[in-house]
Amino acid sequence: MNFIMGVLVLLSLIGITTISAQTVWLDELDLSAATQGYGVPMKNKSLDGNTITIAGKTFERGFSTHAVSSLLILLEGKASLFTARVGIDDEVAGHDPAAVFELYGDGKKLWSSDIMHLGDSARLCKVQLDGVQKLELVVADGGNGNYYDHADWADARFETTGATTFKTYNPIASEPYILTPLPSAEPRINSAKVFGVRPGSPFQYLVATTGDRPMTFSAKGLPKGLTIDPQSGMITGKLLNAGTYEVTLIAENAKGKAEKKLRIICGDRIALTPPMGWNSWNCFAGEVSADKVKRAADAMVKSGLINHGWTYINIDDFWENHRDSKDQSLRGKLRDEAGYIIPNSRFVDMKPLADYVHNLGLKIGLYSSPGPWTCGGCTGSYGYEKQDAESYAKWGFDYLKYDWCSYGNVINGLPDNDPYKVSSLSYSGGAALNTAIKPFKIMGEYLRQQPRDIVYSLCQYGMSDVWKWGDSVGGNSWRTTNDITDTWVSVKNIALAQDKSAAWARPGNWNDPDMLVLGTVGWGNPHKSKLKPDEQYLHISLWCLFSAPLLIGCDMEKLDDFTLNLLTNDEVIEVNQDPLGKQATCLQTIGEMRIFVKELEDGNRAVGFCNFGIDVTELQYSDFEKIGLNGKFTVRDLWRQQDISTIETNSDKLKLKVPAHGVILYKFISLK
Ligand code: GLA
Repeated sequence: MNFIMGVLVLLSLIGITTISAQTVWLDELDLSAATQGYGVPMKNKSLDGNTITIAGKTFERGFSTHAVSSLLILLEGKASLFTARVGIDDEVAGHDPAAVFELYGDGKKLWSSDIMHLGDSARLCKVQLDGVQKLELVVADGGNGNYYDHADWADARFETTGATTFKTYNPIASEPYILTPLPSAEPRINSAKVFGVRPGSPFQYLVATTGDRPMTFSAKGLPKGLTIDPQSGMITGKLLNAGTYEVTLIAENAKGKAEKKLRIICGDRIALTPPMGWNSWNCFAGEVSADKVKRAADAMVKSGLINHGWTYINIDDFWENHRDSKDQSLRGKLRDEAGYIIPNSRFVDMKPLADYVHNLGLKIGLYSSPGPWTCGGCTGSYGYEKQDAESYAKWGFDYLKYDWCSYGNVINGLPDNDPYKVSSLSYSGGAALNTAIKPFKIMGEYLRQQPRDIVYSLCQYGMSDVWKWGDSVGGNSWRTTNDITDTWVSVKNIALAQDKSAAWARPGNWNDPDMLVLGTVGWGNPHKSKLKPDEQYLHISLWCLFSAPLLIGCDMEKLDDFTLNLLTNDEVIEVNQDPLGKQATCLQTIGEMRIFVKELEDGNRAVGFCNFGIDVTELQYSDFEKIGLNGKFTVRDLWRQQDISTIETNSDKLKLKVPAHGVILYKFISLK
């Protein structure tokens, strides 16, 4: 019995008080409210159902979770102490996970374990909680990729003053609500205002337009070599000479006519606005097939998303043959005699698939690794970069995601038996700059030699400050952070890590915080995104403010009205596709609220009031100079597509009510 308990018992024995100290074990609470990267929260067992074991020591009791993870507990001031032994579970032996355990009381950080690796002995977390109302147990990513971050809060318990249990909870509104107005019947042209192409490359630009069909399209000022299809609005052809061409696009239907200016820049740079499309990974992971890809492309058209500018249909890992999978559909000869890659039996022939997607008015992308194996253990490009780049072009691909993974093998001279492990090693060792750049440069050069434009998306999770050299290897985008999961902590941590690379974003070079986790996602294990509706609004608003590539990661055949509302708001998308290509940064922090500001080509600013806290934030905002606003402005609510007020920054205040884990996204339009 400790001292406090002793005193309490003594006091109650002599009748002075009826309060008694008590232990409440964490595993006695409802842990299903926890959100975590993969799998389900476990009580008194490891994530894989084994005895909880940290560095050889076993524990009978505890809460096991998968980074990144969050569990909120309502203590109402009734707990005095929290203790636990934390660490990575031994069941992930053979890999190199890393995670950070953290404790927050009423939004303030109370304790952090610092980065823990596999094999580190359990660390004691012992924290006084007196007065804490809301406690949050967080496991954050420790920076090694997060596939194997099995995290244990072992022997976790509270000392309380009388409470017998605590409620776990999720405070964020859970009912989906729709803000995006339906598109009107009159034509509205939504495709980007600027488009880059290289001389001699096949040209493909769709005048993405909402409004009633039938619709006819035309264009004034199209340069020689390009034509527009009046029925579909597709512009095709070839430009032979570099130059900038100002074109007027026209869309007409029975209800009206829309016009929009398009600047075509024929030169060196492509992807002048962030790529928008779909990628198979967050939804199908290793279960992808040509059939699923075709169906995703069909759904892109049928859902109307194509009319809002969504373009790419990207195949991620698992179109190649696998090294040692038991799944026979992934087994077969890896390459032909000349070294050209052979797709697996789920795909067979890539050219007809690319034609199919192009005929729908879309573009198509795929995936490889600079190492011998991809992250999933399929055939990588190492030593065959030339043949692979030629294959992509010959098949008609428009986009390549090139993912580091087993390249760690090459630099560490390890046996190439585990791509995840070697990628981790290269993280902790930190690849020397030349080594980090080299494999991306090789593929970048081969891609440039092809007779078509292939958007080059680097994926190496932000190592060696990729944003500083990505452009020099021909990269159009680069991942800045680790893999996203559909959890609040993941989205929040990724979002808050973007400012450092913001200065490098510009037309043709985009920082990539990873794909969207909206709709039905699940990496082969489909479920509705665990992000609450407010969190989803915040997620897409931030990715638009960041000028991030927008790659939908969900099952396109299961798009619900709420998800469609998130993906079809043309004014929100316009922020992402703004031709100036600036990335928003956080210009002010007020408590848990961060204010992200993006400069736009028209001289105006898009501002996201982002509430990362667990309580609604209400305030009268007047710090306009901090976010670069001075003068008279119309305030436009972009999600609602409505002007909501006019403000004079010297005298007015703006009333803000930002939902917990939510956002208000305004455009401030100057009234000079
Ligand atoms: C890595 C990438 C993911 C996905 C997988 C495929 O983890 O970061 O986006 O491409 O590999 O194996």
